[in-house]
Amino acid sequence: MRKSHVQNTVGPWARKKLGALERYLEAYHRVMQNQRFKLIYIDAFAGAGRARVRTQHGNAPSLDLLIDDEQAAAEEQFIAGSPVRALATGRGFDHYFFFDADPRRAAQLERLKREYPGKDIHIETGDANTGVQKLAAHFHKRPYARGVAFLDPYGPHLHWKTVEALAATRKVDVIINFPLAMAINRLVKRDGDIPEKQVILLDACFGTHEWHALAYETEGDLFGVDTVRKSEAAAERLLGLYHERLRQAFGHSVPPSLVTNTRGNPLYFLLWASANKTGIPIAKHIMEMGDRVALPRSGLSPEPRG
Ligand SMILES: C[S@@+](CC[C@H](N)C(=O)[O-])C[C@H]1O[C@@H](n2cnc3c(N)ncnc32)[C@H](O)[C@@H]1O
Repeated sequence: MRKSHVQNTVGPWARKKLGALERYLEAYHRVMQNQRFKLIYIDAFAGAGRARVRTQHGNAPSLDLLIDDEQAAAEEQFIAGSPVRALATGRGFDHYFFFDADPRRAAQLERLKREYPGKDIHIETGDANTGVQKLAAHFHKRPYARGVAFLDPYGPHLHWKTVEALAATRKVDVIINFPLAMAINRLVKRDGDIPEKQVILLDACFGTHEWHALAYETEGDLFGVDTVRKSEAAAERLLGLYHERLRQAFGHSVPPSLVTNTRGNPLYFLLWASANKTGIPIAKHIMEMGDRVALPRSGLSPEPRG
């Protein structure tokens, strides 16, 4: 496990992701304010609630080390993570469901819950896929439930079945962190030699094995010997596959928003999807406030440097 994962630190770019989430939740509450729905917020990879912002050197922030676009928040040591943003935004939700596999983070979420005694907060320690799928199955009994799910894994831990279960509710909008450059594209090795365990992870994440045929090309030599090599367009195709499957599952999506590190290298894409087209202009606008929104033509380096 990476040091940052153990220490609960985040890169400064996390602000872009969290800013997008917050803006969407604000807009969501504005749209929903005069409707009689019960609003539900699901945070499947919730983290600890607050995270320490890492500098380029991986230490606690110090003013001289912080980089330009993070300068404004230079004095703050911790940023509010997704659960805090959801609790503090707009009129709030009627019910909150936070999941995290790490018991230490779940314990921090329990402490956070005590800061909001008036809110209905459910915290589950364990695999979010199981928890969210169970939760999604209850939506058909609740005609007045509507919600937002923030799905923010570090790696390919969000199973497609979970995304599908949320899509099947027709009541939950999703914002997904698709960790293409920081995790998924790294697992897709250049020589095609991917350990079976990781193939299983990628199959579960995409919900299909199609990613393999898109990521690799086979070339035969003069003697009829085939060589498998990773396509230069692998990252772009993998994003395209995921995004298209998302659009088909929900009905509506907007172009992905790229989040880069402080050197401008791609890290992940934020994706939005919904069964309801009302959110499209809002989601589009918010995603466009991120680094860039169009599907990448090129420039997705396989390994982010930083
Ligand atoms: C990127 S962090 C989440 C950050 C958080 N959403 C925020 O913005 O403040 C990913 C989190 O997922 C948790 N995690 C990893 N695998 C998981 C799984 N299968 N189910 C639930 N949580 C998981 C990790 O412990 C970690 O806290």
